[in-house]
Formats: sequence, C-alpha cells, structure tokens
Amino acid sequence: MPEYISGELKPAGLRCLAGIHYHPSIQAMKGLLMMKKRTAKLIDGKKVSEAILSELKQEIEGLKAQGITPGLAVVLVGEDPGSQIYVRNKRRTCAEIGVASFAYDLPKETPEKKLLDLIAKLNADPKVHGILVQSPVPKHIDEQKVLNALDPRKDVDGFHPVSKGKLLNGEECFVACTPAGCQELLLRYGYDPAGKHVVIVGRSNIVGKPVAALLMQKAKGANATVTVCHSRTKNLSAVTQTADILIAAIGVANFIKARMVKKGVVVIDVGMNRIPDATKKSGSRLCGDVDFAGVSKKAKAITPVPGGVGPMTIAMLMKNTVFAAKRSGK
Ligand code: GUN
Repeated sequence: MPEYISGELKPAGLRCLAGIHYHPSIQAMKGLLMMKKRTAKLIDGKKVSEAILSELKQEIEGLKAQGITPGLAVVLVGEDPGSQIYVRNKRRTCAEIGVASFAYDLPKETPEKKLLDLIAKLNADPKVHGILVQSPVPKHIDEQKVLNALDPRKDVDGFHPVSKGKLLNGEECFVACTPAGCQELLLRYGYDPAGKHVVIVGRSNIVGKPVAALLMQKAKGANATVTVCHSRTKNLSAVTQTADILIAAIGVANFIKARMVKKGVVVIDVGMNRIPDATKKSGSRLCGDVDFAGVSKKAKAITPVPGGVGPMTIAMLMKNTVFAAKRSGK
C-alpha cells in the first residue's frame, strides 16, 4: 500500500525516515491506525510448550539410561471428532519425546464394565505410569465412576478425587493439565499471580475449579486473590473489569469483549471453539472465549487461540507422566 509523507506519494516499500514531518491529517490517520493495532504482548504457548517438551525429552533420555521408560495409556471411547484430534496430538507428542504410548480406541457402545476392567488392567501394568481417559465419554458411562477407578498414582490428568482433594489441601499432587498450563504460562512470562486479582470466568471441573484452587494456594507461583464467575454471576462485567489477570474458560466463542476488561489486564484464553469461517477451506476456524481483536488493544498480554493454552495442556500432561514414572522408580 502506498504511504503519504507531507502530502507526497511515497513509493510502496520505502521505509519512513526519522525527522520527517507528517501533514497533520496524515498524523491523525496514523493515530487512527495505531489505535487499531494490537498493543498486548503475545503469550506464546506454542513456544513455551516446545521448550518444556525439549527439556522433558532430555530428562526421558536420562531415565531410559536408568531403565525407566515413561508410559502413558490414552483411552478413547467413541468417535467424537474433537476428542480424536486431541488424542492423536497427545499420542504424537508421546512419540516425539520418547514416552511409550499405549493406545486404546474403544467403540462408543463399550459397556461401562468393560472400560472399568481395562482401567483395572492398566492400574496393574508396571509399564503404564499414567492413564488418561479422554473426556467426554458416551452418555451410558458414568465418567466419575471411571475416574474414581484410576489408581491415583497414575492420574496424570489430575481428575481423580484424591488429586483434587490434595490440590485443595495444598499437598503435592497431579495438577490438571490445563490449569497447570495456565499457571506455567503466567510464570514463564513474568506475570506472577501473587497478590493479584485473578478472575476466572467458568467453573468447570476440568478448568475453572482447579485453576482457582491452584492459584489461591499459599505457594510459590500462586498467592492470588481469586474470584470465580459463572453463568449465574450478576453484573459479570463489573467483576471482570477488576481483574489483573483474567482466565476465560466458559466455552462461548468471543464472549469476553474489550469493554469487560480494564487496561493492562493479562488474559489467558482457555476457550477452544469452532466457528464458521467461509474464508477457510474447511469452512470453519478455531477461536477462543475472548474477542482477541478487541481485548488485545487493552490488555498488557494475551494468549492467542490457537497457539496459547492448547499446546501447554499436552506439555503439562507429558510433565505429569514423566513425574509419575520417576516416582514409580520403574
Ligand atoms: N477433554 C478435554 N480436555 C481434556 C483433558 O485435559 N483431559 C481429558 N482426559 N479429557 C479432556
């Protein structure tokens, strides 16, 4: 696009030089353009997750030299396309860093008893250090019953009641991967939640509740004042506007708008929503719970979707699996 300097047309591609004075109308135009630009720093989950995975890969080499190969069983029941993608990514990451992956793809009609029998078998298998049952499971299966059946020492997803109880108590435990990923991103980018007001939008068992428990702990990397908002929260904007750190995990595309946040907020977007997009070959694209274009003009820092929290979830799963293997000592 051509640029104008002092009313003259400047050929496209030429850079502006210091000391050039712009016509006032051009200054105004520039100001307008500046206003439209993202000012927030991008919190790059892809980059951080790659760094973590490369650290883990080295650690696994050391463990293998001691005769320990971390092993993760990933169980998928049914053919949910979203779950299939998640599971494929988890298994691929295992292969990339040297974790032994045990794949169980069961048909959607699998009786609950059969799944419970498989869990019992995996609990007893010394080669399996971590077990993950991809959520959601088909409706005829009681998901909580399945999670309760896991050996808590192999609960690398952090979904077992023992893990959740320990998290709330502030004891060492497997922390659910997405909450752990949110915390890791904040810390690696220098946004320590200590003393900050963290507002979480969403109260799910997988993200909202555990991330609240994690960040409110009297512990390094936590010590936040935490507010959890949800569908029944009155005057939500009034609460979200007080957030120093906002964690959006509500599962509604572009839900958090610029007017709902204060200037300088740090935003972690956990949302993973597929929305129609005619410009894409697939006809759709992924988007978060945060209106990125608007909010990124007010925020100090923000995670993109994709490339933010998503890759961190897998990295933390691998970290938990390596921890489980080390602790088992075999
Ligand atoms: N479904 C969506 N996220 C997750 C996750 O982190 N773990 C499992 N097991 N299922 C999920």
